[in-house]
Amino acid sequence: MHARTTEWQCETQGWVLTLFATAGFADVLGCPLCHGPLPPAEVGTLACTVCGARYPVTVGLADLVPPEPGQAETPNMRIMESGLLARVYERAWRPILTRLLTGMSHEAERTWSLDRLAPAPGATVLDLACGPGNTTRTIAAAAPAGRVLGIDFSTAMLSEALAAAPADGATVGYVRGDAHRLPLQPASLDAVNCAGAFYLFSDPPRVLAGIAAALRPDGRFTLMTSQQPRLGGATTAALMRPGGLRVYARGEMERLLDEAGFDVLDRRPAGFMLLLAARRR
Ligand SMILES: C[S@@+](CC[C@H](N)C(=O)[O-])C[C@H]1O[C@@H](n2cnc3c(N)ncnc32)[C@H](O)[C@@H]1O
Ligand SMILES: [Zn+2]
Repeated sequence: MHARTTEWQCETQGWVLTLFATAGFADVLGCPLCHGPLPPAEVGTLACTVCGARYPVTVGLADLVPPEPGQAETPNMRIMESGLLARVYERAWRPILTRLLTGMSHEAERTWSLDRLAPAPGATVLDLACGPGNTTRTIAAAAPAGRVLGIDFSTAMLSEALAAAPADGATVGYVRGDAHRLPLQPASLDAVNCAGAFYLFSDPPRVLAGIAAALRPDGRFTLMTSQQPRLGGATTAALMRPGGLRVYARGEMERLLDEAGFDVLDRRPAGFMLLLAARRR
């Protein structure tokens, strides 16, 4: 968890006592195993009030990935753990790849999603697979009296997010979590954004079910993911699969959204990508 962190260092013994403003998200953060509340226990620990699981808080970040064989540890995840990629991601990697894969600028793509996410000024919003916080901060500016939580699996990406200048307005927090086991309480969110990550997830229906559970009825959900081109779509998907990248068939993501309890409100195909806006029923 990171949001207005305060630290005291003991000069003789060298320990660092860190206080985290977890209170800002106390009604949102939940145990990834049972979704019970996670109040702070002893220093450096959050503890689930329902199942008793404990989660460490180290160097300014709560680690809410359960200590069991992780579903998310794919080759892609190891790439995302690269400090070098994390450092160049926001300034170079993301803008260049977005232009190549969508034909849109990152700015235009973000604006399309943000206009449809349309958070109320005091909304509580999740930016899932937030990377270095590039979109998290944009959402925060659009919800000046709200709260924006960024969740990502990669410590390298989260370190960049924590190092970035704080966003104006909303309270922004970051935690390490796995999209397949979301560390959230039920119906605790008004809106969710997830850009550039659904093609990395190993079990998309499971992720969508978790998002639906964490959203309040009528809550908005925007996402950008891959979509097979009209020509050679199946071949493209087959070529990407060994690298762990999923290229969704045309209409597949809309069907998965419907099955998870969402109505699709708007869609914008863009090159090899698809932008979607949905509403939780
Ligand atoms: C291409 S980046 C997208 C970052 C940002 N959302 C954006 O739009 O630029 C993909 C991110 O998804 C994260 N990610 C991949 N699998 C994940 C999982 N299972 N749970 C949480 N984050 C995950 C990676 O660590 C990485 O930061
Ligand atoms: Zn629990």
